[in-house]
Amino acid sequence: MSAANLVMQSYGRCCASPDFFDSFYRHFLASSPLIREKFVDTDMTAQKQLLRQGILNLVMHARGMPDTKLRALGESHSRQHLDIRPELYDLWLDALLLTISEHDKECDADVRQAWREVLNKGIAVIKAGY
Ligand code: HEM
Repeated sequence: MSAANLVMQSYGRCCASPDFFDSFYRHFLASSPLIREKFVDTDMTAQKQLLRQGILNLVMHARGMPDTKLRALGESHSRQHLDIRPELYDLWLDALLLTISEHDKECDADVRQAWREVLNKGIAVIKAGY
């Protein structure tokens, strides 16, 4: 199965796990004070819904969708707006992979590798807008 399809199926299992997004933000916020600082004024309930769609955009990009949505994320996360420094995406990726391993019961080395491939491709588009 292609990396994009492995990821699509894994993401379906993750989204079916009720506290997937709670776990992700718990890990992500715990990873650095720099991350916590960025979310001090954020409505985290709304943010979890936005991230659900944001990850879907990364997955759909790997399946051939044009990069319009990811370029818009690149713009909102750029130095003129949210100012998310490129190295912070490493923490984001680590927190997400950890959360996937915990919530997707079928996650193995192949699924993790497929996620890495798919996410890195989309993250590169977002970082390019910094
Ligand atoms: C907002 C997705 C990485 C911090 C958002 C939004 C989405 C999103 C969909 C809301 C819409 C928007 O503002 O454009 C993603 C995805 C990421 C990512 C898919 C990884 C590929 C990061 C990282 C940080 C971050 C690494 C670092 C702290 C924020 C903040 C907001 C935000 C502070 C605004 C929260 C607020 O409204 O108070 N993100 N993001 N994001 N993101 Fe990200």
